[in-house]
Amino acid sequence: MILRGKVLHRGEIIEAGIEFEERILRISKELNGKAIRGIILPAAIDVHVHFRDFKEKHKETIESGSLSALHGGVCLAIDQPNTSPPITTPETYFERVKRAEKKSYIEYALNLGLTEENSARICEILSKIQKRYFVPAIGETFLCNSMRVSYPTLERVKKVHRITVHAEDPELVRCNDIPNFRCRPPEAEVRAVKKCIETGVFHFCHVSTPESIKSIATSSSTSEVTPHHLLLSTEDAERLGSFVNVNPPLREKSFANTMLENISLADVIASDHAPHTPEEKKDGKSGFPGVETLYPLMMNLVRKGVVEIKTVVERLSEKPAAIFDLKGYGGIEVGNYASLAVFDFSRVEKIKAAELHSKAGWTPYEGFEAVFPTSVFIRGVQVLSNKEVLVEPGFGRVLRSVDKSSGD
Ligand code: NCD
Ligand code: ZN
Repeated sequence: MILRGKVLHRGEIIEAGIEFEERILRISKELNGKAIRGIILPAAIDVHVHFRDFKEKHKETIESGSLSALHGGVCLAIDQPNTSPPITTPETYFERVKRAEKKSYIEYALNLGLTEENSARICEILSKIQKRYFVPAIGETFLCNSMRVSYPTLERVKKVHRITVHAEDPELVRCNDIPNFRCRPPEAEVRAVKKCIETGVFHFCHVSTPESIKSIATSSSTSEVTPHHLLLSTEDAERLGSFVNVNPPLREKSFANTMLENISLADVIASDHAPHTPEEKKDGKSGFPGVETLYPLMMNLVRKGVVEIKTVVERLSEKPAAIFDLKGYGGIEVGNYASLAVFDFSRVEKIKAAELHSKAGWTPYEGFEAVFPTSVFIRGVQVLSNKEVLVEPGFGRVLRSVDKSSGD
């Protein structure tokens, strides 16, 4: 197939044709093909989603979460292991990826969970899994919650594999009331990030303070930011009511604004898609659904001239691929998989929870403007056309370890 139109290629918008099968074969200004309205971008890699399933099917399943991702222009999601039961053994890992193979609409990879209990055997567990599957990281590893791990354990395990960390120091986190920003201060994150950086190199999940972004940027570690820490703040507490809690919590407006101004210091933008039902939110559960609105909200910021398209796309595709060693993923390049998302800036929509596909059934961005993709391609196959899904559950594959060694 050949698409022709505006293409973001190596940071520049050019008018060109892209010829592809499963992978991109040719990119050339001379190439004619199907005319595309809008701009052709790489589909996003969301390195941080919680697709729940198992005993939490009422919140989300791999099927519903990946469908939501597909509508948002995400071609590959990295799922987190704090499921019920958690992914801390080869058995639970294999059970989950088997389910993903049957149910996922998009490409899927799964992080391995770390606990104090499995940390002594983590090498053995990981190598068993890696014989078959590509494990992006050990993560998200929590410094503070039910899957809590100590700093010395983190320091020991970092030699085994890449670790992604939820950095909030347990000594400074006092409760999980509504709103939780009153008892989870910025210092909890700043201190945890500092302590981790002193002991080694990590990928820091969903960083919420300008200070953390800046200190990570001057280290060898990498940082991830979420749309909610860029676009929402404690000023939204009244509007959000019992939906306000997220970890790390929303910060003051000045923090969000500074984060957005410094977005080029962050390495990755990810959703931290963490669905809970409205009933559960009333009990103070933390987390926002967001995989479907990740790319559309960022594209709306591009449309308004708040951030550059290149800055966003690098953080949603090239950099995630580089940091997590995802061969064949990243920018629109010959040899990479043809996983593309088309956005038309003249089609601005208001986000409505009723039109999203997560089982959560709500969104913290109700009424926000967004630009959703008009078409999505995964590995050369068109999977979405004007909101119509063209593939079945199970279309998406689970990344296998051969992907890493052979680049295939
Ligand atoms: C996450 C979840 O619900 O799995 N929630 C969240 O607020 N980000 C877990 C977590 O990171 O605390
Ligand atoms: Zn987290």
